[in-house]
Amino acid sequence: MANVQDAVAYIQPKVTEKPTIGLVLGSGLGVLADEIENPVVIPYDEIPGFTKSTVAGHKGQLVIGKLQGKQVVAMQGRFHFYEGHDLDAVVFPIRVMKFLGVETMVITNAAGGINESYGEGNLMLIADHINLTARNPLIGPNDETMGTRFPDMSEAYSKELRQLAKNVAAELGINLQEGVYVGLLGPSYETPAEIRMLRTLGADAVGMSTVPEVIVARHMNVKVLGISCISNMAAGILEQPLSHEEVMATTERVKAQFLSLVQGVIAKL
Ligand code: HPA
Repeated sequence: MANVQDAVAYIQPKVTEKPTIGLVLGSGLGVLADEIENPVVIPYDEIPGFTKSTVAGHKGQLVIGKLQGKQVVAMQGRFHFYEGHDLDAVVFPIRVMKFLGVETMVITNAAGGINESYGEGNLMLIADHINLTARNPLIGPNDETMGTRFPDMSEAYSKELRQLAKNVAAELGINLQEGVYVGLLGPSYETPAEIRMLRTLGADAVGMSTVPEVIVARHMNVKVLGISCISNMAAGILEQPLSHEEVMATTERVKAQFLSLVQGVIAKL
């Protein structure tokens, strides 16, 4: 595994204040990092141990600075297993953020809506997840400096942070769904039969990220708030083909709501 401390040693001298809040910005949601004041921008390919992000709509840089008066570190773009990286590389930045000082993470993604009461462009608070990747980033020797061998996942997505997000959404008049995110490997979208199966399993939204990151964050006892942007209804629901272009167009359309919700939450952390 790449050395987390090497990455931390590279980043730390470039920033004056330790970030306590980490943001992982999903497809089309990277615009939030543009709101950061006096940003220190570090491309991933400069940082020891980081690999390159290859997905359109994912910039591939860390942005560190003030957001709503709080010192934050944002990942503008993330790594996915389907890009061909091993899971260690996918979760490496999460570990680096923790060792930079992060205690709370806001992890976001674009996801397909499985719950038929949802609509395209809805924001969904992640209440819980189902790991259907058949992988776990903690497989291998346990590093006791990070966390325990068998981490508890019974409150993976902090109840307190969810309540905070609900309060902020109510104040801002934002319709916020709450549901279960199922994480798959991708990169092909699901078939309609798979979506029916996932609904039976108790999932409300489906995506190809987040789950490994949250497992690693919880391993290190970092509090997590998860927010999905329902960028499309999942396969077979609207009987129209799915495309990454649609995902990007929807996130673009709801970005103002997304920005105000996350900024509202950060202001209150
Ligand atoms: N399925 C899986 N991942 C996704 C989807 C989807 O429909 N939309 C955005 N990410």
